[in-house]
Amino acid sequence: MKKIIAILSFIVLCISMSSCGTPVQQTNNRIKIGVLVYDEGDTFLKGIINEMIADAKNRSKGDVDVTITVGDASGDQNTQNDQMEDMIANGCNVLAINLVDRTDPTSIINLAKKNNVPIVFFNRELVKHDLERWNQLYYVGAPAIRSGMMQGEEIADYVRSHPEADKNGDGKIQYVLLKGEQNHQDTIIRSEKAVSTAINYGVRLDKLAGEVANWSRAQAQNRMQQMINEYGDRIELVICNNDDMALGVIDDYRKMQIPVKDYPAIFGIDGTEEAVKDLKEGTLKGTVYNDAAAQADKIMQLAVALAQDEDVSNVVHSNSKSFYIDYQKLTRSNVEEFEQEHENK
Ligand code: BGC
Ligand code: CA
Repeated sequence: MKKIIAILSFIVLCISMSSCGTPVQQTNNRIKIGVLVYDEGDTFLKGIINEMIADAKNRSKGDVDVTITVGDASGDQNTQNDQMEDMIANGCNVLAINLVDRTDPTSIINLAKKNNVPIVFFNRELVKHDLERWNQLYYVGAPAIRSGMMQGEEIADYVRSHPEADKNGDGKIQYVLLKGEQNHQDTIIRSEKAVSTAINYGVRLDKLAGEVANWSRAQAQNRMQQMINEYGDRIELVICNNDDMALGVIDDYRKMQIPVKDYPAIFGIDGTEEAVKDLKEGTLKGTVYNDAAAQADKIMQLAVALAQDEDVSNVVHSNSKSFYIDYQKLTRSNVEEFEQEHENK
């Protein structure tokens, strides 16, 4: 008799647990996403944040409510750590973090584990080892190496089809490089790959100078002025790690009222709205589209799934913890097509 009761109660337990396939646990429809960024003034990150806010609005329907709170660390990792504590205290059930110092995520990861709050890191890539420290950590970004290659190819195409780019006719292209923050994966990889790719395509490059301008338009204008003071019109090519710095360079040539035909060939990366204008005007020769919308979309898919304790392998269709959205070349020759595609989105 005892045995029968035990078996029966076991069966009842099994039925109640599976309850005809409907989930026992109610899914959480109040999703509070805390977004922490190294600097809210960064043009590319502004793009990502705006896309995430729009996406959250679209998702908030019926009894589903997705809210986003943004914290700006103003370039200080300690500030970001404090902001994370506040966000957790305020009930955020998932975090999207753009680290200030991508090599120092220890406090952030420990805090997340302790409070059981998952994190989707983005744009500033942490080393693999750190991402493996907990199974609720993910990364969304873009493959830096591809942006460098594409920029190098654009430079090679341009130089080949514009022999006048070699202003002094010495068979070499004298260039200067404007770099983003020194420890950023995109700075390191883009700088190396853009140059090596152009060389592989047969461009003879001659480096005059390289300066750090931390992704900033104002800093780039400043650095460019110094380089112009030193090298003048010997500069035939300006390679920039992002569009904001390329725009800073153009600001400087404009300020000096140098005719556009005498500008060196200037190249950037990101495909921001402002940069696209300069591409059409011919002041910028090429950029590489860094798809903020697609990255924001992936961050949101992951964040929402994690907040609802869902199996994210359905979202991402892979076992990997890092997701990369590819870049796209953007020059005068495909800019109209590009704009049309984006209007239709
Ligand atoms: C973008 C830069 C941006 C940086 C911020 C890069 O991927 O190309 O424009 O400033 O990320 O981390
Ligand atoms: Ca030359």
